[in-house]
Amino acid sequence: MNYEEDLFGDERLVSSEPIAKDASNDNTLRPQRLSEYIGQEQVCKSLDIFIRAALKRGEPLDHVLFHGFPGLGKTTMSYIIANEMGSGIKVTSGPVIERQGDLAAILTSLHQGDVLFIDEIHRLNHAVEEILYPAMEDFQLDLIIGQGPGARSIKMDLPHFTLVGATTRTGLLTPPLRDRFGVMLRLEFYSPEELVSIIKRSARILGVEINNSGALELGRRSRGTPRIANRLLRRVRDFAEVGNHKVVDTEVADAALRLLNVDRFGMDDMDRRIMLTIIDKFQGGPIGLETLATVVCEEKTTLEDVYEPYLIQSGFLARTPRGRVATATAYEHFDRKMIGPGRIQPSLFDQEE
Ligand code: ADE
Repeated sequence: MNYEEDLFGDERLVSSEPIAKDASNDNTLRPQRLSEYIGQEQVCKSLDIFIRAALKRGEPLDHVLFHGFPGLGKTTMSYIIANEMGSGIKVTSGPVIERQGDLAAILTSLHQGDVLFIDEIHRLNHAVEEILYPAMEDFQLDLIIGQGPGARSIKMDLPHFTLVGATTRTGLLTPPLRDRFGVMLRLEFYSPEELVSIIKRSARILGVEINNSGALELGRRSRGTPRIANRLLRRVRDFAEVGNHKVVDTEVADAALRLLNVDRFGMDDMDRRIMLTIIDKFQGGPIGLETLATVVCEEKTTLEDVYEPYLIQSGFLARTPRGRVATATAYEHFDRKMIGPGRIQPSLFDQEE
């Protein structure tokens, strides 16, 4: 997503209109309302109460922090909040706000009750974060312009807005920023059944005929993540169209996913590269994150945020104090023999590196 464009170039993002009406991009598949949202029951219930209470009082919603792995619905939730509150939304992300002035420009462009969504909020730099504290707490802009004796301080009232922050890991947020969120909600991986419902809904929107078993095949291989489920659905649709398959059933879904190199656990080439590096090149580990990242040619943070969570959750990978370790399940899945029984002590699995 081009955040600059979203922020300044597109009126759509500051209205409470549905985000997109054509079927060409991912926004089409995002639910617009809480009532359409599938999964994250606890989060939806809590949000529903907080939103209704705020509306009843005629106040903006308190600042909300979403945390969870990529693709679980943090951005979707922020649009839903704006829709439910009947307010506008501006979307940006931590790394694109480089200077205090950038954030000041965004804050002063907000209207009363607007949602300001900051994705990857843990990546805001320190100077920018300092502007955010009084803005969140007192709706005040507190800016010093210039340096030395000529420096001037600017104070301005801001409209009461709702900051919605998203982060992959709350541990990376500074305590003063974390403390300024009134609502903190954690998004979890989705069950295969929830993914089936999401896939069927998306298929209806995209005009794809899919049966239950076809949807379940896709759901099982989507790593608990709607974004991946929807991406795979689009590719399976291509496969079905070109092959003249009227309905996506198990066979069609399986054939398409095999072509995409997505295995029965939803693992793709990079997942396999990670696991086979640990098993074949490092005798199952432990291997340090840095070394692993170098060998598989990927950023450390991408490994931690994108690949590892699902591999850990599905029992293939464990984090130990001495590094990453392949589990017995991984050896079995990749048809490899473990060298010596009991090499991995389960007690180590509980501790993070
Ligand atoms: N599309 C993507 N995520 C969804 C969700 N959680 N519910 C319904 N549709 C979705």
